[in-house]
Amino acid sequence: MKKRVFSGIQPTGSLHIGNYLGAIRQWVSSQSQYNNIFCIVDLHAITIPQDPKVLRAKNRETAALLYAAGIEPDLSTVFIQSHIGAHAELAWILNCYIPMGWMQRMTQFKEKSKKKKEEVNIGLFDYPALMAADILLYQSDLVPVGEDQRQHVELTRDVARRFNSVYGEVFKLPESTVNEVGARIMSLDDPTKKMSKSKTGKSHAINLLDSPDEIYLKIMRAKTDSLHSIRFDRNHPAIHNLLTIFELFSGLSRIDIEERFEGKGYAIFKKELAEVIIEFLKPLQLRYQEITNDPSYIDHLLAEGDAKLRPIAEKTLNHVKSAIGLG
Ligand code: AMP
Ligand code: TRP
Repeated sequence: MKKRVFSGIQPTGSLHIGNYLGAIRQWVSSQSQYNNIFCIVDLHAITIPQDPKVLRAKNRETAALLYAAGIEPDLSTVFIQSHIGAHAELAWILNCYIPMGWMQRMTQFKEKSKKKKEEVNIGLFDYPALMAADILLYQSDLVPVGEDQRQHVELTRDVARRFNSVYGEVFKLPESTVNEVGARIMSLDDPTKKMSKSKTGKSHAINLLDSPDEIYLKIMRAKTDSLHSIRFDRNHPAIHNLLTIFELFSGLSRIDIEERFEGKGYAIFKKELAEVIIEFLKPLQLRYQEITNDPSYIDHLLAEGDAKLRPIAEKTLNHVKSAIGLG
């Protein structure tokens, strides 16, 4: 039996190269080894206000982008979280087994709530319980994510362990897998901040559907350090981040990259970096156009996903309910 991979992505904003390099790249490259489920987490998305029309469109756009990035329908199942009611139901049950203190330690909540004071709702606080439900419903083995989600997967293990210690082996304990390189791609305009979908700064992120001109402009405007040499040096986070992006999109080794740009200026490096990204994204963008030419194609795949996964989710949920004494 192949191990089960489960991961999720929010259908908000635009997917960017941080999502690709931190998460989607892993999903694509290991998909033939595993049994894979990728969830478009619209219930997580509504923890911040969303326009209903935009949210609906983004669910489909996100699915199309995953397929365009190389997710294959024969190897992986993509589905929309809100289509399977068991997610919200299990999240409620898990709430009753998660001490407040565990949740209060979550760094993502602390960061998000600092920025959005008035908008903070209970859903945002409870976000990790829903994520735990996503993962545990499918008895997942591996959860490939970017660095920022590692702590949430730890909480998932903790709640599964706690539940199992009372009721027996109901849940499998999942493990996160985080890329060695690219697990935290930083913003182009501020290398101390993570590249994120919710930021709107002009050159904050490179989105997977950006045009070549947009990519070029954003890279040319990207912040650099005053190092004046092009080396992988952690003390110079701006250039380190750009070099990491170059490394991952070009497939070249760090030594080769440093040699290539030895004695050269930032302008030359940035021009080549923009070209590498543009070339990499070109086939992805073409596939995206092809896939979205026929909107029924994505709807059909998503409906197949629901039908295939619902029984798996319901089986776990029923097991949980009967263990607790519900129903
Ligand atoms: P999200 O955009 O929050 O739905 O994230 C989807 C996936 O992309 C998660 O596995 C995140 O950890 C990953 N991710 C998001 N932003 C970054 C980033 N800047 N660098 C690396 N991975 C990221
Ligand atoms: N919280 C994740 C993020 O923002 C998305 C997510 C929701 C997820 N459910 C998940 C990731 C389950 C992995 C497994 O990136």
